[in-house]
Amino acid sequence: MSNTNENKRLQGKVAIVTGSSSGIGEGIALAMGREGASVVINYHSNEESAQELKSKIEEAGSKAAVVQADVANPDDVEKLIRAATDNFGTLDILVSNAGIQRDDNFLDMSLEDWNKVISTNLTGNFLCAQAAAKEFVKRKVKQEEKRAAGHIIFISSVHDIIPWAGHVNYATAKGGVQMLMKTLAQELASEKIRVNGISPGAIKTAINEDVWSTEKGRKDMLSLIPYGRIGEPEDIAKVAVWLATDEADYITGTTIYVDGGMTLYPAFSDKG
Ligand code: BGC
Repeated sequence: MSNTNENKRLQGKVAIVTGSSSGIGEGIALAMGREGASVVINYHSNEESAQELKSKIEEAGSKAAVVQADVANPDDVEKLIRAATDNFGTLDILVSNAGIQRDDNFLDMSLEDWNKVISTNLTGNFLCAQAAAKEFVKRKVKQEEKRAAGHIIFISSVHDIIPWAGHVNYATAKGGVQMLMKTLAQELASEKIRVNGISPGAIKTAINEDVWSTEKGRKDMLSLIPYGRIGEPEDIAKVAVWLATDEADYITGTTIYVDGGMTLYPAFSDKG
């Protein structure tokens, strides 16, 4: 990397990125590591890929630790936070990103698939945010200072506002994340904790590979994206890095849609 330590924007910061062994989480962890942050990489099942990411972050001159954890399990979440404090002394940034899909039509959806998605995609965010905030409140920052005691960034989805037939568990969880984010932002502002969301549109990762990997799927997907290209993890990572810097100090309680216009009702773009 050409970045010297002086212009690395997250130098000296410690970040946890949940679900960072692949996809958007991996992109964010790498970008934060390249910007100087020490990164706790969390994986659920793919240790090999998490270890590869660790090597990449170390090659970029930063530190990283790898932790297996299920974000829906409170003991695992404790372990995740401890990995940050034991290895790197503190925690500055939580990127709560881990998420899954278990798709089915509403009439056929099993309670198991409902519960699984709600626990990972909604309760997991609650648990990680609570554990991180308990660390952040230890860092006393005066109200008038132009820096935060800690950052929580929820990686949500355009489906926190776009209803999604065939994915009711997923869309419901993401809608919940939106209100979780806003309520925490309101409640934790006096502690100088910034809480925001990034809502990605269609980003090329394993979660939607069955769609973008076929010619028809790719075409259908593009018809929902006015900006005319499917997103890449880097598109989200760049925004996450910036949001975690003091450049964005006055932003809390906001969702940034990084979606190439997917939330612009593209079906109406030909005058309706
Ligand atoms: C989903 C993807 C989908 C995208 C746009 C994301 O939250 O995980 O599967 O392609 O939203 O619909």
